[in-house]
Amino acid sequence: MPGPGFEWIGKEEEKEVLEVLRDRWLFRYGDEKDPAFKRKVKTLEEMVQQKFGTKHALAVTSGTAALITALSALGIGPGDEVIVPGYTFIASMSSIIVARAVPVLAEIDESLTLDPADVEKRITPRTKAIMVVHYGGTPVALARIRAIAEQHGIPVIEDAAHALGARYDGAPLGRHSEYVMFSLQAIKHMTTVDGGMLAVRRSEDLAHGRRVRWFGMDRKAARTELDVREVGYKYHMNNVNAVIGSVQLEHIGPVIARHIDNGRFFDQALRGIPGLELTRWDEAAEPSYWFYTVLAERRDDLARYLTERGIGNTLAHKRNDLNTVFAASRRELPGVDRFYARMLHIPCGWWVSDEDRDTIVDTLKRGW
Ligand SMILES: Cc1ncc(COP(=O)(O)O)c(C=O)c1O
Repeated sequence: MPGPGFEWIGKEEEKEVLEVLRDRWLFRYGDEKDPAFKRKVKTLEEMVQQKFGTKHALAVTSGTAALITALSALGIGPGDEVIVPGYTFIASMSSIIVARAVPVLAEIDESLTLDPADVEKRITPRTKAIMVVHYGGTPVALARIRAIAEQHGIPVIEDAAHALGARYDGAPLGRHSEYVMFSLQAIKHMTTVDGGMLAVRRSEDLAHGRRVRWFGMDRKAARTELDVREVGYKYHMNNVNAVIGSVQLEHIGPVIARHIDNGRFFDQALRGIPGLELTRWDEAAEPSYWFYTVLAERRDDLARYLTERGIGNTLAHKRNDLNTVFAASRRELPGVDRFYARMLHIPCGWWVSDEDRDTIVDTLKRGW
C-alpha cells in the first residue's frame, strides 16, 4: 500500500499535452488572433474561479510562488511580522523569509492548525498578515481567526496547499480570505506536475499578481516604454502545465470525494482504540483529508509496527524552527511539541481501497 501522495496522470492528460506541444503555443502568452493559441492557463484560472467561487485566480509556478506573490501584494518587507503556525511545511515560513519579513511562530491546537487564542497573543504593531495553514486538509478555525484579523485590521493569507476541496461554513476554501493559495504540486489532490494558484479578491491584487509573476512588468505594455517599479519574479504558469490541471480539475470531484469518504471512515472506525487519539476541528470545517493524522502513545513504536506490516506512514515534517535558517524565529511552543510527539500520518487518499482501509483499522486495533 503506498504512503500518502501519488499522481494520477492518465491518457487524457497525455493527449492534451501532446496537442499543446503540437500547436507550439507552449507559453501562457501568445497571439490571441491565432486559432492555434488555446489560452490554456486562462482556461484553468477560469475553471478554478468557477469551481471554488473565487473572485480572481492567478496561476503560478508553485504554491510557494503564490504565497510570495500574496506577501508582495501586501508590500510586506523588512521588519514586518507575519504570524504562521509553528508546525507546517517549511514553504509557509520560507515565503516570509523570502519577503525579508519575520515569521512569528504560533501554537497549533488539537486540529493541528493555528490556535486562534495564541494568534491573538502574537499580534504586535508590526504584524502585517496572519498566514494560516489548513494542515493535512483540515480548515483552521477561520471564523475566529478572521474575527481577530478584522479587529486588528490585518489581512489573512490562507495556505491551502493540502486543502483543495475542503469547505468552511458551507463554502469551498478559496473565498473566505483576502488571499488563498493552492499547491498543484505532484502529490497534491490534483496536480499540474508543479504549480500553484492564488485566489485574490481585489482587482488591484489581480493586476499586481499579473505583474509580479512576470518580472514586475505589464505584459501588454511596450517594453521600451515601460517603467518597472517593483521587483517581480518569473512565476507564470505555462500552457503545458495548465492543460494537465484542466483535465485533472474536470475529474477532481470523485477524487476528493474518495479522500473524504476514507477520512470519515477513519473518523468513525478509529474511535476508542486504546493508545490512539483523533484530531478535532472547528465545527464549521469540512476537511478534504489530504492525509489522515492520528495521535498515538509510543508513536515511534506505532510507526515501526505499521511499516513492518506494509502500511505507509510518515511524520511528514520536523518542527521548522529547528532548521538553522529559521533559528531567529525559535521560541517555546509546548503545544506544538505535545502534538508533534504523538502525531503520525497514515494514508487516506483516493488510492486507499475499502480493503486497504479495513486492513489499516484491523492492524491498529490489534495494538502495537
Ligand atoms: C503546507 C504547505 N505550504 C506550502 C507548500 C508549497 O507548495 P509548492 O510545493 O507547490 O510550492 C507545501 C508543499 O507541499 C505545503 O505542504
